[in-house]
Amino acid sequence: MRVLIDTTSAPSESLVDLYRPPRLPWLRVNMVSTVDGAANGESGTSGSINNEADKAVFDALRAQADAIVVGAGTARTEGYRVADVPLVIVSHAGRVPDQLRDAEPGAVLLAVCASAPGRAEATKTLGADQVIVVGDTQVDLVALKAALVARGLTNLLSEGGPHLLRDLIASGAADELCLTVVPRAIAGVHPRILTGESVGAELDLAVLLEQDGTLLARYLLR
Ligand SMILES: NC(=O)c1ccc[n+]([C@@H]2O[C@H](COP(=O)([O-])OP(=O)(O)OC[C@H]3O[C@@H](n4cnc5c(N)ncnc54)[C@H](OP(=O)(O)O)[C@@H]3O)[C@@H](O)[C@H]2O)c1
Repeated sequence: MRVLIDTTSAPSESLVDLYRPPRLPWLRVNMVSTVDGAANGESGTSGSINNEADKAVFDALRAQADAIVVGAGTARTEGYRVADVPLVIVSHAGRVPDQLRDAEPGAVLLAVCASAPGRAEATKTLGADQVIVVGDTQVDLVALKAALVARGLTNLLSEGGPHLLRDLIASGAADELCLTVVPRAIAGVHPRILTGESVGAELDLAVLLEQDGTLLARYLLR
């Protein structure tokens, strides 16, 4: 992988160094897109647009993370399973994705608001400690970040999806966006990496890497 831009003064060109958070706590979101802006491919998952270079960054980010924060939609569509670190599912409905209902205590946390319809059922399924209630009628993502930090989870990685990324940026909870642009254009009807009401976020490019035409960027939210 070639380093095209690096403003971080990383001590080496290893991916882990190039993707080290500048301070903790830190919350970043890692996404992949085609050149024409599709956030998923023909299969309806990001698995049909990502590639080897994206996987290398995906793994480097996971290796550093204390927890993975993911929207319930992505957990369902992509069939998320438990990981090496806690998986934090963000949900309005408060429903634990089916494949995660039998997870060991602590492997899956559910972030909901107080009025989430599935909250009582989720508490029964996961245990009260694993259900993080933040906000009355909406999940308060800034409060969620603080609640995770209070549990000692300070290096936070979100893997989307597009609704959650939009809300993480709109709320100011996100510090960084890691974006892989794969050299493909696919047209068709696909989500972009942010979905929802307009936001006006400005970003600074901190790192840009290239491998076989794939561009891998770290953008810092201003
Ligand atoms: N290109 C990429 O890097 C990438 C990454 C991830 C996903 N994807 C793709 O994106 C598609 C899924 O898109 P999506 O927009 O549905 O993903 P999403 O944002 O993960 O899912 C939306 C659902 O997640 C929950 N959610 C998201 N934001 C929330 C918030 N602020 N508060 C409370 N709950 C929240 C809600 O779940 P409930 O319905 O349970 O209330 C909502 O219905 C899939 O095709 C997936 O493959 C692409």
